[in-house]
Parts: sequence; C-alpha cells; structure tokens
Amino acid sequence: MIILAVETSCDETSIAVLKIENRRLDILSNIVSSQVKLHAKYGGVFPSLAKREHQKNLPIILKKTIKKADNPKIDIVAVINGPGLEICLWQGINFAKDLAKKLRRPLVPVNHIEAHIIANFISENSKFEIRNSNFFPAVCLVVSGGHTQLILMKDIGKYKLIGETRDDAAGECFDKAARILGLGYPGGPKVDAQAAKHQTQKPKYKINLPRPMIAAKNYDFSFSGLKTAVLYDFKNRPLKIKKSPLYVKEMCFEVQQAIIDVLLRKTIKAAKDFKVKSIILGGGVAACQKLKERFKEKIEKEMPHTKYFVPDVKYCTDNALMVALTAYFHRSRRTNWQKISADANLKIG
Ligand code: KG4
Ligand code: ZN
Repeated sequence: MIILAVETSCDETSIAVLKIENRRLDILSNIVSSQVKLHAKYGGVFPSLAKREHQKNLPIILKKTIKKADNPKIDIVAVINGPGLEICLWQGINFAKDLAKKLRRPLVPVNHIEAHIIANFISENSKFEIRNSNFFPAVCLVVSGGHTQLILMKDIGKYKLIGETRDDAAGECFDKAARILGLGYPGGPKVDAQAAKHQTQKPKYKINLPRPMIAAKNYDFSFSGLKTAVLYDFKNRPLKIKKSPLYVKEMCFEVQQAIIDVLLRKTIKAAKDFKVKSIILGGGVAACQKLKERFKEKIEKEMPHTKYFVPDVKYCTDNALMVALTAYFHRSRRTNWQKISADANLKIG
C-alpha cells in the first residue's frame, strides 16, 4: 500500500510518500519545506504569508516528491484537517482533494495531534511493532508551538484528552522567551542551544522563574505567566546585563528547566494515576535534548517498568510522513472527501 500525505497546518509545507508492506515502512519521499526564515522577522508565524507560501510551494514539492518516489502508484491520499491555522489547513486540504479526485483515490483526513503521537512508530529499515497488550494504556504528551496536551491512549484511534494548556503552549513560551532575549525564531532550538552552554554549577544571576500550576491536582498547564516572568526579569536588568551572554545563557537554562519541570511532573502524575504501560512524547518541543534526558531519568527512577517513546528529532516537528502513517491506521475510514473541511480547533478523542 502506498500513501501520499500532505501537511500544511502551520509554517512547514510537506508532502511524503510512504509504502507499507507487511508492517515494513519504506519511506519513498518526505520533503519538508520550512518557512522559518520568512517568518523570523515577525518573531512568529504570520498566517496569510504562510498560506501564500503553501500555495506557491505545494505544486513544486509534489513534482519533486513524485520524481523522488519514482512515480509511485498511490493507493490513498491523506491530509491534516486540524488543528492548525485555518487558512493554512485549507491550502493542504484543497490540494489533497484535487489530487484524490484526479487519481480517483480515497482521501483520509488526519488529526494533527494524533499524527505527532503516531510519529513514534516511524521506524526506518525495520518492521514497526505495536503490541496493544504491551503498550497500552499510554499517556501521551504532545508539546508543540500550538499545543500542550496530555492524552490517555487506549489504542491507536482511541484517545481521551485529560489535560491541556489554558493559555500559551510550551513551544510558544520558548518562542516568546527567545524573542524577548533577541534570539530569533523559532525559539525552542535557540533556547536549547544557549541552555546547553550554561555552567549550572555557577549561576551568577540566580534567576528564579515560577513553575505555573505544578502543584495543581489536575493535568492542565499554563505558560503565559512564565513568559511574563521572563519579560519582567529582563526589563528590570540594566542594559549591560541584558546583553551579556552569561545572562542570556542563564535565563535560557532557567526557562527550559521551568517548562520541563512542569511537563515532567504532570506527565508522571498522569502516568501513575492511570497506571499506564507507556509514556509517549511528540511535537516540536519533544526535540529538546534536555527534556528527553530528564524524562528518561525520571521514568527509569520512578517507573522503571514503563516504556518510554520519543520520536526521532526529524519526526518531532511537523512533517507529512507522520500523517501518512496515521492515515495507514485509519485507511478503512471512508470519509466523503467533499465533506472534509479544516477545523482549526479539532480535538483528539
Ligand atoms: O510541532 P511543531 O513543528 O509545530 C506545531 O505544531 O506547532 O512545533 C514547533 C515548536 C516551536 O515552538 C519550536 O520552538 C519548538 O517546537 N521546538 C523546540 C525545539 N525544537 C523545536 N522547543 C524546544 N527545544 C527544541 N529543541
Ligand atoms: Zn505540529
């Protein structure tokens, strides 16, 4: 079976072709064209600009994809229909609809959040294994620029949202902190790089940021106060300190620790409360090296029998390959493609 997937939910334009035979994945093509440079000067994604770029890039990427995949015989077309930026989602949906119509193939709509979870099952050069009795229930933490959600997963396709952010997403907090510090966009990787250079033994500025909602007896998050705390600390420092590499490194380290502390505490609480067999991460923020390490350490220490999954870095951020694999699991869902529409706030479960 060969699946062609399209993804345009935010600022990446991506098309992938995935061949699956006997649970073996053959990645025929996965092109991700990032618009990061274009949006950098706005310090975040500018939706109408992103839409125009998707429109311009999709036919070019399709041509490249077909060439790279050596003119594949496509069985299914798939596309993310939400959540995401509505005008961007529509670009991908309309493009995929045209393609499905031309090829006379079914079109499978895919939930963006589910795709980030399924990214964990992308295995190159080996069979993917999903043994329900071993893996589920699982708790999934999806952390990206637009979402921070804790999801209880009973099986592929069976999800229950148990907590989410009440304001900013974790990735958004990284992006805003980086903007305050003048590090550029996207903030996550920039903060990550600065934090890695910080000498933890000798903090000079002793920055103490809050860990919002860390002790609350629910699985919800809130990151807007953290961003404000970064802004106040920054504003109250003399210019010389604000510009000092030492301050920037120390602040980046503290922001990263604050975000990880909250994500870790809530995820472990959910994992224990629901007695899960696996902890699954996904989304752009899961690319953070420190976050992955701290989850690994904590799970090994406190829940050593729990499986721990995190996607390969290149499959953490938005890509069409995760969409293709998700569509594979839902290939029998026959949706009338004419009825598929963008839902910016599409929920999982
Ligand atoms: O999943 P994604 O590509 O797009 C959305 O669905 O939003 O996630 C993008 C987010 C951005 O906020 C970016 O700053 C963050 O993921 N990110 C990271 C890292 N790499 C990307 N955050 C922390 N550490 C990283 N290494
Ligand atoms: Zn995403």
